[in-house]
Parts: sequence; structure tokens; C-alpha cells
Amino acid sequence: MLMKTQCTTNEGMLGDFLLAANSGRHLMMRMPDRDAETDEFAESVAAGLAARPRRLDCRFLYDSEGGRLFESICRQPEYYLTRTESAIMAARAEEICRYTGPVTILELGSGSSGKTGQLLAAHAELHGPTHYVPVDVCENSLRQACRAIPARCSEVRVTGLHGTYEDAFALFGMTSPALTLFLGSTIGNLDEDQADSFWRSVAGGMATGDFFLLGVDLVKDEQILNAAYNDAAGVTAAFTRNLFARMNRELDAGLELDKIEHVARYNPRRERIETWGRFTAPQSLKVGPLGQSFSIARNEEILVEISRKFRLPPLLEHLRDHGLIARKTFTDQQQWFGLLLLERI
Ligand code: TRP
Repeated sequence: MLMKTQCTTNEGMLGDFLLAANSGRHLMMRMPDRDAETDEFAESVAAGLAARPRRLDCRFLYDSEGGRLFESICRQPEYYLTRTESAIMAARAEEICRYTGPVTILELGSGSSGKTGQLLAAHAELHGPTHYVPVDVCENSLRQACRAIPARCSEVRVTGLHGTYEDAFALFGMTSPALTLFLGSTIGNLDEDQADSFWRSVAGGMATGDFFLLGVDLVKDEQILNAAYNDAAGVTAAFTRNLFARMNRELDAGLELDKIEHVARYNPRRERIETWGRFTAPQSLKVGPLGQSFSIARNEEILVEISRKFRLPPLLEHLRDHGLIARKTFTDQQQWFGLLLLERI
């Protein structure tokens, strides 16, 4: 059975987590700051619209509708990332778990944990009872994962954390020896500065000898990249538009959604896909809770998300600078995607 608990403070969370971890039950914990999600969304939208170029924080793409749409993106034929990463994971799960030995398995941005099943099964097979700690801001996807994983693999106990990556960093110290998963090339959704502070927090929280499994999308032919973010069925377009729909739902933004287009294109100089919401007519965008209003011009584009693409040698060097050494580097035959097993030294 899945128990639910609401943490009262971020510090209290650590105590609750320890109790949960030792209780032997499946549990889902909700961070107190999740109550402030709408306020954070309002603040973030207002700050992003005041910046130039205007930009939005990709974290807010993942409300329950966004989580559902993202699951559907992962099944689109053009979106090779999920399929390719899953295949590498399936082929290498046993080798990874042999290398790490018995560990607590944390996952940042776990979504519905679709790719993790193989790894958890391999860990349970090799090392016996396994503790899995998925962390996500999307409550729906997390709840699904907390139900589905133990049903598939009875040796796996789940403690879900409904919270942000920052919430999860606090757990690093208490879960060692641990393997933290960060899959789906989500690291590419952070710009260089954000990624740098992410790695500082990660490396700072990990104990020597802890492991980190990183999935990264690699630089490749532009057409393949552009297709992956412009699927023919229009699911990615719906995903982008949902961020504006969420503004209507939660911030009373008053937007006409059919006058906002999804535009995703590869920027070869910066080696990243940039996803924009393009306004085909002038509109005013209200941020209700803050009593603010922004005028968006015709043809103006608001940056919704970046997806950086990586080259392995510079990436490995960057990680090494943060004290993370690649013990194993796996790719697929076409070298489209990389899965790196890193160790904190
Ligand atoms: N981590 C995924 C990626 O970079 C997220 C993603 C997939 C995404 N498709 C998207 C984000 C479209 C915004 C828009 O590929």
C-alpha cells in the first residue's frame, strides 16, 4: 500500500525520510514548499517576461497535463531520445549494478520512472532488497511510479519525494552509498551557469565513492534533432502550448492560445535546440496573483526551453573538474545518446 505524508518543514523532511526509509513501506512525501507552487510560478513568469529575450522556466512545463504530454512525447517516432536511452539502459543495467554494488537508487526528475525498471530489477537480482527514491515536481507521474514499480518488482521499496532537485540534495548525505540517476538529457535543459551550480550542489552532497548515472543527448545531424522537437503528431507543440494554458488556469493570464505557435529549432552555434512560444498576434499577458500585465508584440518569441546537445570529451572534462570521474561511458551504435556512470572521487 502507498502511504502519503506531508512534510511540515524542510528540516522535518529529513527526519520523516529516515523514518520512512526504515519503515519498510511504500511512501510518498510531499515537500512543504509545494504549496507555494502557484506563487513560484507567478514570480517566475513575471521575472522571465521582464528579461530580454523573454524566457520562461522549463520546470513549470510539468504540471499534471504537462507530465501526461511529456509521456506522450517519449512515445513519438521522431523522439529517439527515450527509446535510445532505454535500450542502452536495458543492455547495461546489470553491468552498472555490478560495478556500483548495493546502493540506494535516487532519481532526479523521475517522471513515471519508465526507464528505471530495468535498473531496479537488475539491482534487486544482484543485491537483493532495493530502496528507490524518485523525486519529481509532477505529482501525478510520481504517484504512478510509486504504484507501478513495486507491482513490477516486489523486492523494490519506494519512497517518492514530491519536490524539486534542490529538495533532493538534502537527501544525498543520508542515502550513501547511493547511485543517483539523472536521465533523459534533462541536464541539457539547464544553461551553462545553471548546470554549473547544479554540479556543485550534486558533487558537494555526494560522499566519496557514491555514483551518478547521467543520460545525455549527443550532437548529431541537425535534421534528426529538429524532427525530434517537431513531431508530426503535434504533441511537442501541445506540450509547449500547455505552459501558456497553465498560465490561463493558474495565473488568470487571459491568453488566446490559438495565437501562440510552437517553434523549435536547432542553434548550431550553441549546439542546442531552442523551443519558443511565438505570438502570431499582439496579446497582453496578465500575472493575476501579482497584479502585473505584460504586452507581447506580434511575432515576438518567448523562450520556453533549451535542450543542449553534448560532445563527450568536453563534457567528461567538465565533470572531472567537479570531482566526478566517468567509470563507464556507454552509447548506442549510432552514437546518438550517451549514458555515463560517474563516481565521486
Ligand atoms: N529533457 C527533454 C529534452 O530536452 C525535455 C523535452 C523534450 C522538451 N521535448 C521537449 C522540453 C520539448 C521542451 C519542449 O529533450
